Amino acid sequence: MEDIKVERLLINYKTLEMFKRFREYGHQELSMMEELQNNIVENNSESPFYGIYYGNNLVARMSLSEIKKEYDNYFDPPQDYLTLWKLEVLPDYRGRGYGKALVDFAKSFNLPIKTNPLINSHGFWEKMGFQKAQYDIQRDLGENPLIWLPVGVKEKELASK
Ligand SMILES: CC(C)(COP(=O)(O)OP(=O)(O)OC[C@H]1O[C@@H](n2cnc3c(N)ncnc32)[C@H](O)[C@@H]1OP(=O)(O)O)[C@@H](O)C(=O)NCCC(=O)NCCS
Repeated sequence: MEDIKVERLLINYKTLEMFKRFREYGHQELSMMEELQNNIVENNSESPFYGIYYGNNLVARMSLSEIKKEYDNYFDPPQDYLTLWKLEVLPDYRGRGYGKALVDFAKSFNLPIKTNPLINSHGFWEKMGFQKAQYDIQRDLGENPLIWLPVGVKEKELASK
């Protein structure tokens, strides 16, 4: 099995250009580009993205951010957790363990994780040990969050269902 290395992605023109190959390219990437162009962020400053390179090409990526426990509505007891989104492996590189390597990397922080899966990806998340959060109409609105619980962490019980 090849050695898969997950790295923190830096904000620079090269990374932002490679982001265009991903299906989920949108506001977040465009605003990073704008910030770079307007010198609001320095070239090569850290982004919330982590990725995997194959040669010089970025072939898989995810965005990962820490949410502070004051804002936690998912876990018991309330605690800092990670939110994971934009996990995507370029089509030619799927099925080689890159998606799993990114998720394993996120799990290595040993904090609970929340994600909003894209349709069709439930099988993958199930395999990664994620479970559906109980649906809370006030909290989740249009989302169907999935969560991953490290040992000793429970899902928050909803007061009313
Ligand atoms: C879903 C996705 C991230 C998986 O990445 P990947 O690199 O192909 O997955 P891996 O090779 O790491 O697969 C890990 C395991 O999950 C399984 N798996 C992968 N995709 C799956 C799916 N859609 N349904 C069920 N199982 C799946 C693999 O068979 C593998 O199982 P194994 O360990 O028993 O061999 C990738 O297909 C993708 O980018 N899809 C499009 C975007 C997307 O749906 N993103 C989801 C996040 S919102």
